[in-house]
Amino acid sequence: MKDIAFVDILLRFGFIPFSTGMSARTQIIEVGVMSDWLWWRDGVIYQIYPRSFADSNGDGIGDLNGIMGKLDYLADLGVDAIWLSPIYPSPDVDFGYDVADYYGIDPKYGSMDDFHRLLDEAHARGIRVIMDLVLNHTSDQHPWFIQSRSSRENPYRDWYIWRDGRNPHSPPNNWGSVFGGRGWKFDPSTGQWYYHMFAPQQPDLNWRYEPVRQEMLNIFRYWLDKGVDGFRLDVFNEYFKDDQFRDNPWKLGIRRFESQKHVYDADRPEMMELVEAIRLILDEYSQRYAVGETYLADEKRAVEFTGLSRLHAAFDFSLLHSKWSAASFMKTAQYWDTLNIADHWPNNVMNNHDNPRSASRYGRGEKDERLKVAAAFLLTLRGTPFLYQGEEIGMRDIHLNASELRDPVGKKYWPLKVGRDGCRSPMQWDGSEFSGFSSVKPWLKVHPNHTFRNVENQLQDPESLLHFYRKLLQVRKSSKALQRGMFQPITFDPQRLAAYLRQDDSETVLVALNFGRRKVRLGLGPDLANRDWELLVSSKNRSAVGIKNRWLPLSGEEVCILKSWN
Ligand code: NOJ
Ligand code: CA
Repeated sequence: MKDIAFVDILLRFGFIPFSTGMSARTQIIEVGVMSDWLWWRDGVIYQIYPRSFADSNGDGIGDLNGIMGKLDYLADLGVDAIWLSPIYPSPDVDFGYDVADYYGIDPKYGSMDDFHRLLDEAHARGIRVIMDLVLNHTSDQHPWFIQSRSSRENPYRDWYIWRDGRNPHSPPNNWGSVFGGRGWKFDPSTGQWYYHMFAPQQPDLNWRYEPVRQEMLNIFRYWLDKGVDGFRLDVFNEYFKDDQFRDNPWKLGIRRFESQKHVYDADRPEMMELVEAIRLILDEYSQRYAVGETYLADEKRAVEFTGLSRLHAAFDFSLLHSKWSAASFMKTAQYWDTLNIADHWPNNVMNNHDNPRSASRYGRGEKDERLKVAAAFLLTLRGTPFLYQGEEIGMRDIHLNASELRDPVGKKYWPLKVGRDGCRSPMQWDGSEFSGFSSVKPWLKVHPNHTFRNVENQLQDPESLLHFYRKLLQVRKSSKALQRGMFQPITFDPQRLAAYLRQDDSETVLVALNFGRRKVRLGLGPDLANRDWELLVSSKNRSAVGIKNRWLPLSGEEVCILKSWN
């Protein structure tokens, strides 16, 4: 506790201590409940965007056999699970997030046999497989919707959300579409409007209709029976809409969707009961997992969906929007730290297929120092780290001209909004013409920096970002304190320095991160300064621990991780 007192001294010298809600109660629960290794809690999950990962048959689109060929790479990287963005048959208006058959594999990705082989090969390497379930909406090419729109009397009519307009020219209410404009589309042949939260080709399912709910729950069982280990639930908290279809209140914004408070088209109370029903199904199987994409919700709402009888996790996206500063990063860990961790296990995400890459947000030119600081933060926080393909080599977003755009959002709003193609460019395996991703021109442009920024080069360079990620994953894997120990902030200042401990009953890990370019010193209380530390990770070739007179000096943008036995 003396070190905590020392934080007070630091405060007087301008350091701001972290106001931690961590309580003794939380720690006891952790020690009591978390004695066994759990893949989804203690491991690291790697997101694959299959279209852009590896193309095995030379059609310019990534596929399952391509992923299979890279499993050893993933095992060497040290990941414990892969999450595959959707691989079901899809017309690809939203690249797989418009599903035309929940029970199949799109032939462009391979066959069901290929999928089974991938599952077996991944499992043989200790890698779990998470599927992406997109159950808020289907493709408009799904047979259910084709039936549904064919007549008002069709048995599938109520599978989707059909309403009369306010008058022949006005939709049922003011709800918008995330991808722009109204959320309702008029269907002249039956004279009604259907609701689509995303593209008009992605009609929303009517979850209030019992046959839909039953079918959706069957989809879970179908893939669980095949042996998949878990699910990422696409925009799950949007499944239910207001039963009275009330207008959303307006607020200031430019496009319709952003100018509304999403009171009635999202996050309705009915979801909680469904989350519990989903968990009951998962728990019929051993060690299965679900993480929800909590869309439009803040971290407080995300937390409510998690728990022992709810989802295992719900995404907290705050780290995707952090500014480059010690304070901004530390703030993302703050909220979870106030919770009962046994019930609400956090996850940490810095990249995904919908947002500009962290390397483009934080990297300076082609330098990777900052990315090492960010990686060390992500991989030493409490909570399951999610990596996104290419993050480990510092892939940057591609820049496209109008004719090269593929994402519907970019196509609609360019140049006002560039859309999400930037972070979806093909994986950079080597420096060859199509980056070792494919033998032909890929579906989306390869980043020109692939000639030097690629897996092959970074494997040969011990100082590379890839080696740094590998090291961090290895260190995390060998440390229970890093996997599930308590998170104890030491200090952080607004811009540069962040330092914290991860601690369990047997070990203490000290993480010191310098977000700034100039040198800083971390002041340690006597209990910490006088410990017998071992150097675990340094991003600047530090040869020894280097604590002198209670100060740990850090050079610009340095990561230093130390460990001692308690
Ligand atoms: C969230 C997915 O991450 C995004 O890519 C997709 O466009 C929407 N959900 C709609 O499914
Ligand atoms: Ca292919």
